[in-house]
Amino acid sequence: VNTGSFSKKLINWYEQNKRDLPWRNVSDPYKIWLSEIILQQTRVNQGMPYYHKFVELFPTVEDLAQADESKVLRAWQGLGYYSRARNLHRCAKVIVQNYVGMFPKTYDELVKLPGVGPYTAAAIASFAFGEATAVVDGNVFRALSRIFGIEDDINSGKGQKTFRALANELIPANKPAEFNQGLMEFGSIQCTPTNPHCEECVFQSECFAYKNDLQSSLPVKVKK
Ligand code: ADE
Repeated sequence: VNTGSFSKKLINWYEQNKRDLPWRNVSDPYKIWLSEIILQQTRVNQGMPYYHKFVELFPTVEDLAQADESKVLRAWQGLGYYSRARNLHRCAKVIVQNYVGMFPKTYDELVKLPGVGPYTAAAIASFAFGEATAVVDGNVFRALSRIFGIEDDINSGKGQKTFRALANELIPANKPAEFNQGLMEFGSIQCTPTNPHCEECVFQSECFAYKNDLQSSLPVKVKK
């Protein structure tokens, strides 16, 4: 696949196929952060009502920081993985106390915050601040491994590094948010884990997995 045309094709596909999700119409890093923490181990349809509830109960990071932990945990009820909610609250306090209520603007600073890993830091940096840092999640592993024919184990550090390097090479400086959202969306609704929609795919003619009938073998995932 020609790396120059990849991002153009992807972003065109995204503009025509994207779901209208509430956190995609905002540039407030607080709301983007909130949505990404909620969506970490949660499906979009399940996470949506929680996103709306949190924005309503805690409209700003100050409101969240000042809330009682019990109120935050109650609002989180039903989502599971309660460490996410505790980190959410802890991070809000750090933002207020150490950053005067303003989210830091770069990946390198964001990734130091509690509960903010490489994925979430890249999402906030690109969506809120336009930094060209690639997000790499399960959707991204799947799409890139199939299209580019990358057979590295996605459970290995070396494999993840390969995918991260490729995604950071592909991401365009002028549309990093669209590229990141687009690649996640593509993996989520087009290049699905089972029964991917290859018959109507913009990458069909160049996709390694399609050409070699390897969709069900990619990505390579060695059992941990
Ligand atoms: N899952 C995680 N982040 C997402 C996002 N920004 N949009 C849709 N699904 C997601």
